[in-house]
Amino acid sequence: MLKPNKLANNNFLSSLDLSSEEVLHILDLASNFKNKKLNIDLGNKVLGLIFDKSSTRTRVSFQVAMTRLGGATIDLNPTTSQIGRGEPIKDTARVLSRYCDVIAIRTFDHSDLEEYAKWSTNPVINALTDLEHPCQALADFLTIKEEFLDFKKVVLTFIGDGNNVANSLILCGALLGLEVRVACPKGYEPSPIVTKKAYEIYKNKGLLKITNDINEAVAGANVLYTDVWSSMGEESQKEEKDKEFNGFTIDSNLLNKACDDAIILHCLPAYRSKEITDEVIESKKSRVFDQAENRMHVQQALLCCLLS
Ligand code: CP
Ligand code: NVA
Repeated sequence: MLKPNKLANNNFLSSLDLSSEEVLHILDLASNFKNKKLNIDLGNKVLGLIFDKSSTRTRVSFQVAMTRLGGATIDLNPTTSQIGRGEPIKDTARVLSRYCDVIAIRTFDHSDLEEYAKWSTNPVINALTDLEHPCQALADFLTIKEEFLDFKKVVLTFIGDGNNVANSLILCGALLGLEVRVACPKGYEPSPIVTKKAYEIYKNKGLLKITNDINEAVAGANVLYTDVWSSMGEESQKEEKDKEFNGFTIDSNLLNKACDDAIILHCLPAYRSKEITDEVIESKKSRVFDQAENRMHVQQALLCCLLS
C-alpha cells in the first residue's frame, strides 16, 4: 500500500514549496484515496480554518478530507474571533499552534500568510491568497492527469486574468514540465516574479508563453482553463475589467479552435456569459465538477504528507 511521505517543507504556502516528485506523490496518493485503495487514520488531528474571504469548495473539501482522515476541523471565523479585532498575527499563530495541528488560511496579502507561517510551529496551508492558490493547482493537475495520463503531452492554456489561480498553475506546471500558455488582456499578465521563477524551473523557455493573442494561445491546446475576471477583493474594478476582458470569453467558437480532445477547466465559482458561456461549462468537454471533487482528494493527500 502506498504510504504518505513527509514533505521537505513544513508549510504549503506556494506551489514551489513542493518538488516535482512531491507533486507527483501527492497526485498518486490522491488517486488512491479517490479509488478507495487507501485508508489512513491520522488519529484525532485538528485542522484550523481561518478564512478572510468566502469559500465553498476549499472550506468544505478541507472539512470532509479531515473527517475522512479521522480528524476534525475548527472554523476560526475572523469576524467572531479576536483576529477580526486586529490581534497581531504573531500572537494568533503562536496560540493556535498550541491547539491545532495544522492551519489552512485564506486571506488577501500573501505576506500575512507568510507571517502566520513564520510564527506557527505547526504546518500552514495556503487556502488562497491574492498571489497564489496552490491547493487548486494540485486538483487541476490531478484532473489533467486523469484525462491525459502523461503531462509532457499536454498543452494547458489559461485564458483571462493573470491572477492567483494562473500563478499557481504556472508554477505547478513548470514543476511538472508541461507547456503552459496564458492569454490575457494587456496589463493583466501573471506576476512577473512568478513567471521568472517558472522560467528558471523550465529548462526549455518555450514551454511557458504569456500572450495577449487568444487565438495563438488556443491553437493546439488540450486544456482550456479560465477563472473569474475580477477576484475577491477586486469588486470595485469589476466594471472596468468587464470591458477590458471583452473577447476573452471561452465560448464554443473558441473551443473549436483547440485540439479535438480538449477539455474545459474552471476553478469555480463561475460567472456564466463573462469568462465562460453556459453552453461550454455544461458541455461534454467540461470537467469542472471532477476538478471540484478532486480538491478533496488532493487535500486529503496533502494533509497526510504534512502531518506524517
Ligand atoms: N475554487 C475555489 O477555491 O472555490 P471556493 O472559493 O468555493 O473555495
Ligand atoms: N481568482 C479567484 C479564485 C476563486 C476561487 C479569486 O481569488 O476570487
